[in-house]
Amino acid sequence: MQTIISPSLLSADFTNLKADIEMVNKSEADWFHLDIMDGVFVPNISYGLPVVQQINKIAEKPLDVHLMIIDPDRYVEAFQKAGADYLTVHYEACTHLHRTVQNIKQHGMKAGVSLNPHTPVSVLEDIIQDLDLVLLMSVNPGFGGQSFIENTYKKVKQLKNMIAEKNANTIIEVDGGVNLETGKKLLEAGANALVAGSFVFGANDPTHTISNLKNL
Ligand code: DX5
Ligand code: ZN
Repeated sequence: MQTIISPSLLSADFTNLKADIEMVNKSEADWFHLDIMDGVFVPNISYGLPVVQQINKIAEKPLDVHLMIIDPDRYVEAFQKAGADYLTVHYEACTHLHRTVQNIKQHGMKAGVSLNPHTPVSVLEDIIQDLDLVLLMSVNPGFGGQSFIENTYKKVKQLKNMIAEKNANTIIEVDGGVNLETGKKLLEAGANALVAGSFVFGANDPTHTISNLKNL
């Protein structure tokens, strides 16, 4: 399977967002990664539904929406209407995770669960078969441009083993501090999808940078 590249628009130029979206449309990227932060689950506020709706009008690739919010069930339908294709919630924000995952699927979206750096992958043992995607955080969520937490490689391997043992069909996506060096090691460990924000949008040539990630 070819690596899925999901550039995070958190590091895009919001005064000229259309240009960055069109760059991603024309690039070798596969998805758009959209980071939704509520200022409660994480110590930052990003952007919300009206912005996702607008992005969806011109984005020509699936929207990979990462909800860093408490009580995400309240917004599942709204994100489906706004155009989300993959909807990922945080394990740490869901008391009834199974119900939330079913809710996402019933709304016709692919369901993802994200784990903070301190959360072991073993918590997903009894739900992995229901998940389309697991998003491993390799930084503490809330901000772009942080440095990669090395323990993530081990978690990717553990998750890969769990998916094989359970005969599940789950994408392993990693988010935070991804560049060519960490990206290569993540792929070697078994990751299928890479999110990259500052590494892509901070580059002199973002299109070329996406291509470099895609062809690692
Ligand atoms: C962090 C977000 C990330 C962020 C990654 O909370 O979930 O998606 O945009 O940014 P970089 O790639 O710069 O670490
Ligand atoms: Zn993210």
